[in-house]
Amino acid sequence: MPFNDIRKIGVFTSGGDAPGMNACIRAVVRSGIHYGLEIWGIQRGYNGLIDGDMKPLESRSVGNIMQKGGTFLHSARSEAFRTKEGRKKAFEQLQKKGIDALVAIGGDGTFRGANVFSKEYDIPIVGCPGTIDNDLFGTDITIGYDTAINTAMRAIDNIKDTAQAHNRLFFVEVMGRDAGFIALRSGIATGAEAVLIPEQKTNIDVLVSTLERLHELKNSSSIVVVAEGDDEGGAFKIAEKVNEKFKDHEIRVSILGHIQRGGSPTCMDRVLASKIGLEAVKALISGKRNVMIGQICNETAYTPFEKTTKHHAAINPALLEMIEILV
Ligand code: F6P
Repeated sequence: MPFNDIRKIGVFTSGGDAPGMNACIRAVVRSGIHYGLEIWGIQRGYNGLIDGDMKPLESRSVGNIMQKGGTFLHSARSEAFRTKEGRKKAFEQLQKKGIDALVAIGGDGTFRGANVFSKEYDIPIVGCPGTIDNDLFGTDITIGYDTAINTAMRAIDNIKDTAQAHNRLFFVEVMGRDAGFIALRSGIATGAEAVLIPEQKTNIDVLVSTLERLHELKNSSSIVVVAEGDDEGGAFKIAEKVNEKFKDHEIRVSILGHIQRGGSPTCMDRVLASKIGLEAVKALISGKRNVMIGQICNETAYTPFEKTTKHHAAINPALLEMIEILV
């Protein structure tokens, strides 16, 4: 493998944390050491880069973290890094510490920052897709998504029990500010009566007639899964609108919120994160830069940062159809 002059890599997590980020950090540290590199851990995403909050990591520094949710390096959404002045400070810190390249673990905001920074200062950066939202173009699946959908599924299963006991209609809001992936999968897995997502225009009248039809047919209780970014508003707003037209059911709303972001990562997330972390180090060593390491049809894929942030991963229409057929 060509060496490409890289000796010291900084790794950080940025944006919303996602289960599996720790496994990814571990893989970057251990594979970097394996290939004879020095790996530095940068705290609190871009904020730690600006403040020089970073230190070398040994193989043992990342022991016993893989099974934990959150991120051992902490994370942040950095306002300062959006400014030229912030990025200049970050670059000066890298020079001071002699760091040649970066591995950024995060979502689209993280890669937008990485893209600007790498162009301004000619720093090799590779990205690892870490977000529960699964909305990044250039990978079939992001680190954290599998854990989040399983957490949401279990929570909705619990809600179903109580919904049935009281013959209630529940609106359950899941995360996804711009994307409906969590809503779609958790809705299918729990047999939800409807799933509302930002990628598809919500029509309250159609929703009400679906609920009425199902109510007459069979249902004493119903579950509607709402992605937080739905165009008709969050679960509370939609529940209010439905309540005006559909009065047969007692309605309740449940917001799952940040419980979807935490918790021990699933086996799938740990393995995916380990693979992507290792591939990120290999990519830097072999001279790749300014790309996100993804996985498409089980193969490693390299997508330029511009593309990952300009495009949003597409929703599979067959999954939407499945809800309508199987309900
Ligand atoms: O980007 C991941 C995500 O969990 C979104 O689904 C959600 O809208 C957002 O982060 C919440 O962010 P915060 O924790 O900053 O409120």
